[in-house]
Amino acid sequence: MSKEIVLPALFAPTLVAWQRRHGRHQLPWQNTRDPYRVWLSEIMLQQTQVTTVLGYYQRFLERFPTVLELAAASLDEVLALWAGLGYYSRARNLHACARAVAEQHGGVFPGDSVGLQLLPGIGRSTAAAVAAFCFGERVAILDGNVKRVLGRLLAFDGDLASSAQERLLWQQATALLPTEGIESYTQGVMDLGATICTSRSPQCLICPVTELCAGRLSGEPTRFPVKTRKLKRGRRENWWLWLEHGGSVLLQQRPATGVWAGLWSLPLFDDEAALQQAASLIGAQLEVMPRIQHTLTHFDWVLHTHRAEMAALPALPDQAPAGQWVARERLAEYALPAPLKKMIG
Ligand code: ADE
Repeated sequence: MSKEIVLPALFAPTLVAWQRRHGRHQLPWQNTRDPYRVWLSEIMLQQTQVTTVLGYYQRFLERFPTVLELAAASLDEVLALWAGLGYYSRARNLHACARAVAEQHGGVFPGDSVGLQLLPGIGRSTAAAVAAFCFGERVAILDGNVKRVLGRLLAFDGDLASSAQERLLWQQATALLPTEGIESYTQGVMDLGATICTSRSPQCLICPVTELCAGRLSGEPTRFPVKTRKLKRGRRENWWLWLEHGGSVLLQQRPATGVWAGLWSLPLFDDEAALQQAASLIGAQLEVMPRIQHTLTHFDWVLHTHRAEMAALPALPDQAPAGQWVARERLAEYALPAPLKKMIG
């Protein structure tokens, strides 16, 4: 950045006052200082909208009311409850983090952002959010939404693909913090990003800090923040084999890495020939199902499904990954990828 940034001193107090009057106050993870509840919400809310998180959050808390109960559960059960939320490394880290809190901290979360950041799956911004909400620690958050809000406020034109520029924005975020009301401020900057300073059509006319906003003054607020590295979207195609026998479906657990790591899937093939070969080995009469278009962050995925009802239990080839025949009414107990859940659930 060549030009000097003038930090608007009124930003924090204005935002705090606005949040208290007009911000969100009734989300299920608010009005508590329990780090377990706040941490769980922050992990779920990474890359996922509030409306999607609500049901999952409630089911998680019903099944695991405390971090000790989450730590005592199997990873399979956690993944099953997580199924459909996506980004499954979050669920693995969630489980690992609960175990670390149980085993290394006697079931009590560390009481500041520095200690929280040492736990699995807790980055700088998540640690700061938990510490601000639960302990009133005066520390900055900077997730994707907040980068947008502050990037516009400051007309920050450094390229956030550069870690030096990102560091600079962290410094600005820290310098902007209020002297009182960190809880309202932190929620306020999230609320502003979610409801007014949205990605494509910021509602500058009703924004409480419009007069302080350099992005707005520039006439082109959506130009900020700047990030050059563009996501290269790929395209993938796979073939699913849906085998049923006597009311049970054959599932295979995906490997521990990659897309759907650890989830239970139908046998998945890289091309139609491989699927046809497997089907002919077991004498399956295939029926072609409607194809599924599944959109992930990095690629568009086309899933073809061929289904066969087997009169006798087929002997699977030795080289096939281990599978389980699961009764249809028990499928809900398994962590299934979202499109599979939709198709056979
Ligand atoms: N996104 C991330 N954290 C959030 C929170 N505490 N409330 C609403 N949306 C959020």
